[in-house]
Amino acid sequence: MIPRIIATGSAVPEKIVTNDDLSRHMDTSDEWIRTRTGIRERRISEEAPEQKLFSLSREAAERAIAMAQEEFGAEFSARTGQQGFSREDIELVIVATCTPDMAFPATACRLQDALQLGPAAAFDLSLACTGFVAALNTAAAFIQCGRYRTVLIVGADVMSRMIDWSDRNSAVLFGDGAGAAILSGDPRFSREGSGFLDLVMHADGSGTEALKCRAMYFNEAEPAREYMDGRRVFEFAVKKVPEVIREVLARNEKEPSDISLYVLHQANYRILESVAKRLSEPMEKFPHNIESYGNTTAGSIPILLDELNRSGRLEAGDLLCLAGFGGGLSYAAALLWW
Ligand code: UT7
Repeated sequence: MIPRIIATGSAVPEKIVTNDDLSRHMDTSDEWIRTRTGIRERRISEEAPEQKLFSLSREAAERAIAMAQEEFGAEFSARTGQQGFSREDIELVIVATCTPDMAFPATACRLQDALQLGPAAAFDLSLACTGFVAALNTAAAFIQCGRYRTVLIVGADVMSRMIDWSDRNSAVLFGDGAGAAILSGDPRFSREGSGFLDLVMHADGSGTEALKCRAMYFNEAEPAREYMDGRRVFEFAVKKVPEVIREVLARNEKEPSDISLYVLHQANYRILESVAKRLSEPMEKFPHNIESYGNTTAGSIPILLDELNRSGRLEAGDLLCLAGFGGGLSYAAALLWW
């Protein structure tokens, strides 16, 4: 079975925090943040601690399910002689996150119940900013080997829960958000020429010190705080992201110019510019929303994908390249025909 993304959804908190808001509490400025990162504002969750990640994930997933039902119908169709998309079709839920509300149960299990997905399998995985691409890889592999037909994947993070608001180096970078995609190899939802092509993932664990956060339940008296050696991570990203994109392209005898759009993790606008330059590709092929949401970690790629999908920027036959990078240090690139 060839998996394809049949629907997308996303959700961000209502509360907007602008660069000017931040500059009232710390020694920073809108000018510095905009020119160094491209960020203008971010969204911050105000939900109760045990609901933050769950409620964003649920909203994003509900939107993806609604899109699938709009596209394929929710009931049996006399016209096609087929059952439309039902919640029962989802056999597995994977949530990629590094900021769960609880150590356990897995957020995916809470979703399975809240979304009424029948006895679907469910688990979380953790790979920081590369998490969504790792979930995509896992879901695609399960579908390709015939184990499951339809998988709901969610990339979501509430980085605000581990931000040190007194540290201007990283407090200005992150925001909260969730994105979801339904991946299916079911022939009922197939479309000629559309589907997952290939994916390459790597990790360089020698860089774990450059980007890390203690487990949140480790010491309640001293909350876990994210640490990042920004320079080092920046240098890693601008070198490794073009490399892994070239690797997946070469494996499939494609060139950068064959790609319609590069849907990259949104960590810094300057990283997008550098990757575009190294691939000799125009910036028009690198859509971005970092200006509105900051870095939402595992949420950034699926949120952007959903925005592109809903605004009609994705056309049948487009070859998309998705690439994630971050904590691990991990990096991955996927190719898919839309
Ligand atoms: O999603 C996971 C992957 N994450 C990333 O890919 C992030 C990669 N790193 C980056 O995007 C960039 O390195 C940052 C945006 C984090 C930092 O940008 P930079 O151009 O590398 O700045 P820097 O850390 O070298 O700092 C330059 C100066 C320093 O001052 P001095 O030492 O030159 O006087 C910083 O103290 O800017 C200062 N600075 C700030 N000034 C105002 C650092 N943060 C701020 C701030 N406001 N928020």
